[in-house]
Amino acid sequence: MTAAHPSTAPARTVLASDPDWWRQAAVYQIYPRSFADSNGDGIGDLPGVTSRVPYLSSLGIDAVWLSPFYPSALADGGYDVDDYRDVDPKLGTLADFDEMIAALHAAGIRLIVDIVPNHSSNRHAWFQEALASPKGSPARDRYIFRDGEGPDGTEPPSDWQSIFGGSAWEPVGDGQFYLHLFAPEQPDFNWHNPEVREDFLRTLRFWADRGVDGFRVDVAHGLAKDLTAPLRSHAELMEMRLATDGSHPLWDREELDEIYAEWRAVFNEYQPPRIAVAEAWVEPSRRHRYAAPSSLGQAFNFDLLRADFDAAQFRAIIDQNLESVALTGSSNTWVFSNHDVVRHATRYGLPADGGDEGAVGKAWLLSGGRSPEYDAEFGLRRARAATLLMLALPGSAYLYQGEELGLPEVADIPDSARQDPTFFRSPGVDVGRDGCRVPLPWEASAPAFGFGVDGSDASHLPQPESFARYAVDVEDADPDSTLNLYRRALALRHELQGDEKLVWLDESLVGADADASGGAALLDDAEVLAFERPSGWRSITNFGDTPVPLPAALGRVVLASGPLDDGALPPATTVWLR
Ligand code: NOJ
Ligand code: CA
Repeated sequence: MTAAHPSTAPARTVLASDPDWWRQAAVYQIYPRSFADSNGDGIGDLPGVTSRVPYLSSLGIDAVWLSPFYPSALADGGYDVDDYRDVDPKLGTLADFDEMIAALHAAGIRLIVDIVPNHSSNRHAWFQEALASPKGSPARDRYIFRDGEGPDGTEPPSDWQSIFGGSAWEPVGDGQFYLHLFAPEQPDFNWHNPEVREDFLRTLRFWADRGVDGFRVDVAHGLAKDLTAPLRSHAELMEMRLATDGSHPLWDREELDEIYAEWRAVFNEYQPPRIAVAEAWVEPSRRHRYAAPSSLGQAFNFDLLRADFDAAQFRAIIDQNLESVALTGSSNTWVFSNHDVVRHATRYGLPADGGDEGAVGKAWLLSGGRSPEYDAEFGLRRARAATLLMLALPGSAYLYQGEELGLPEVADIPDSARQDPTFFRSPGVDVGRDGCRVPLPWEASAPAFGFGVDGSDASHLPQPESFARYAVDVEDADPDSTLNLYRRALALRHELQGDEKLVWLDESLVGADADASGGAALLDDAEVLAFERPSGWRSITNFGDTPVPLPAALGRVVLASGPLDDGALPPATTVWLR
């Protein structure tokens, strides 16, 4: 099979105003500082994205989700926003943004931008005003300020720990402290304040008016808080964290419904309505609250991302999520990798001693700075199989830049080059998330693997030598590369649009039918997951250790995540049949 060259990819049709475009979209996440650098300063930027639209087009994605590109001191990779309605000068200008969105739309690709409403940065004009204003002032009310405790008021208001480590309260020198659930540079907004609410509606309209098609909502489960005294202890909060009744003072509270109903009204001012997807780390049984059409409309499910490469776990997760979306009429959101977790090609190749938490434990083996030993070939083989399975599922698929190259996590970044606040606040114990944010390799033999321009070797995080084999030009030329697997899968996936049902083959092909198709043994195998989409598509994955025979009567192979073994489906392989 010949590889499609990026520059010769056919132009896609102009975007129709289909209000359901998101339901089964393949959405590609761009972490802009690490995607493509147009001026050789080592930092990826918006003109860099524009220059790579032909590549995105050849990949066959439906939409881009752009991580924050707003002015930021990068205390948390851009999730510390100084100004919600501008572009970071290091990444370009609003005019560059307009050019980028025009180029994406011309290629038939929608754009989702990241909105960070739980906290601003400490350089935001409002936070600076709050610091300069007295206790009890309207400026302080936009954030969460409280008096210190203890005999002399120098103790924090509670013993809460921030997610990146250390106290969640920072003193400001006049007896008050402010709350930051993440880094100290990320003060939490007070969502009871009407000005905060109004300002975010303005921000949503600002970007929607510029043509963005939707929003990824950061920490969507965190905005509403109940800080009525006395504050509970950190230990109590940890115990309550799995509460499913909205009673936790910080997470997943009922008042969020009201906030997102206001947002929904703004989304619906546009034609087609703007879409939103919630990043909400809540119990699966609470996810539908965010995915409801009266709310954000879609919510990430991180269940597969946390699962082992295991047939039973995958099946239970798929069933549970199909049920969950049926509650609201939303569509599923599948994801294996993003800018916060160890890349799945590496996760699946880590030693099997991930501890009690299975794959989650394994993911933290690397981020905990322990042995970076892993089996790269095996990990990639499983990752390809898992991805092909995911791309056959009903719902939208969220892909993270570089996974289409099979990029591994970079484990050996020197401490001096680390950027993630987790590393600095743990301190040094948890290496954090830089390993999945290393700039992409575009050309195997160019300086910085072609990340920059004109031979610039600048890269804001160091790229390992091993990136050469994953470079876009190398994979472009190899018909069996991960890149070409993604391209073929995404092209075929377009035929599945409009069809959101899934039927497990072992339930539909029972008894005589299964025997007639020769599939009885295969479908009885607990290590095999086989399902059908009503249009006649079949996806079969072998999660086990031994090859399984693949009867011809089950269909004609249209794509496989790895070579088949004399008509059998080898371990850690997915095949699509028709
Ligand atoms: C979730 C984002 O994905 C992550 O990168 C960030 O650190 C936190 N939210 C805080 O904004
Ligand atoms: Ca740049």
